[in-house]
Amino acid sequence: LPRPRNPPDDEPVPVRGVRGPHLQVSVVVPTRNEVHNVAPLLRRLDAALAGVAGEVIFVDDSDDGTQREIERVRATVRLPVRIHHRAAGQRAGGLGGAVTEGFALCAAPFAVIIDGDLQHPPETIPDLLAAAVRDGADVVVASRYVAGGSASGLSGTVRHFVSSGSNLLCRLAFPRRLRGVSDVMSGFFLVRVAAVDTAGLRPDGYKILLELLATAGQLRVREVGYTFAERHAGASNASMTEGLRFARRLFALRVPRAARFALVGASGTAPNLLGTAALHHLGLHYLAAAIIATQAAIAWNFVGCELLVWDRRDGSRLRRYPTFALLNNLDLVIRLPLLALLVGRWGVGVGIATLLSLAAAVLVRYLVVDRLVYRT
Ligand code: GDD
Ligand code: MN
Repeated sequence: LPRPRNPPDDEPVPVRGVRGPHLQVSVVVPTRNEVHNVAPLLRRLDAALAGVAGEVIFVDDSDDGTQREIERVRATVRLPVRIHHRAAGQRAGGLGGAVTEGFALCAAPFAVIIDGDLQHPPETIPDLLAAAVRDGADVVVASRYVAGGSASGLSGTVRHFVSSGSNLLCRLAFPRRLRGVSDVMSGFFLVRVAAVDTAGLRPDGYKILLELLATAGQLRVREVGYTFAERHAGASNASMTEGLRFARRLFALRVPRAARFALVGASGTAPNLLGTAALHHLGLHYLAAAIIATQAAIAWNFVGCELLVWDRRDGSRLRRYPTFALLNNLDLVIRLPLLALLVGRWGVGVGIATLLSLAAAVLVRYLVVDRLVYRT
């Protein structure tokens, strides 16, 4: 039998499904330095998809020769294999960005996302497809936490704890949308491409499934159990940073911007109040103390806004800071006379007066920053 030609890498697919309408599934494999895993993975994919019209798309962010290894092995398998290599400097969004770019390349009606380190068994893919077809599902999650599933490959108590903890957190945050999803953290799932606005995803890091379920309309979701295996070779790319990224993203998905702004602003009360009280205690005049402590609080708030309120990666933080600081210092136009009145005239304690003056300035500050710094 003639072997199907491997389509050229990154061949544009102008209309989804036009190239190869016969295709059933595009398997998207994000890889970052998986040189020792891609060969066994491709062999197992090839065998597992023997009865399925499939293709494989690697979205590769590697520096270790993974791409060359894929090129070498794909000549020996039946499945058509494409490689979308992202050079250093073009790896926007990390894993999530890679998966999103993979969606855009899919030619089949169904996309399956699977890790490249064999922690996800390729043999489960036909089960995912079967569930999608049988139940008319938009998303089929391969889950470690339903009958037939197991998380035994999660190394270490800490990973276990983090995984089930974040899982629980997500489900508390989105009780309706995540109903029936036992493994929100799964990196192994099927998507009916037409059912989700994959172009509208703004994924960042590892939690692409959460992003998808949280931002799409109501989706019909099913789950299929699988056993999370040990990594075949190499080390996980997940890290503390990934965990923080995830927490931030969950916060941003769940809490509206104005509320996040209010929380960050409220937290700035602590450095301001403590700073003013401490400096005053050290003998500084209360107005000078207020001015200095306010600078510390502004820096604190700026970091909070950058990380938690306005998730903007364009432009330079250093450029935004002076405007931010200047506008926030305008607070003092309101606060200093108020402090003078409260402390100097009425003898209110410095601490209480600081709190009152901060409260008076908050409303004004939100309006000004929202309009002038971030131009929402
Ligand atoms: N293209 C690309 N770019 N691929 C990446 C990147 C990246 O920046 N970072 C990681 N990958 C690839 C890896 O090469 C691997 O194929 C897959 O994404 C998962 O990465 P791992 O580093 O092995 O992650 P993990 O095993 O710790 O986490 C997996 O299991 C978690 C459940 O505990 C992932 O599937 C997570 O999504 C999942 O939550
Ligand atoms: Mn892994």
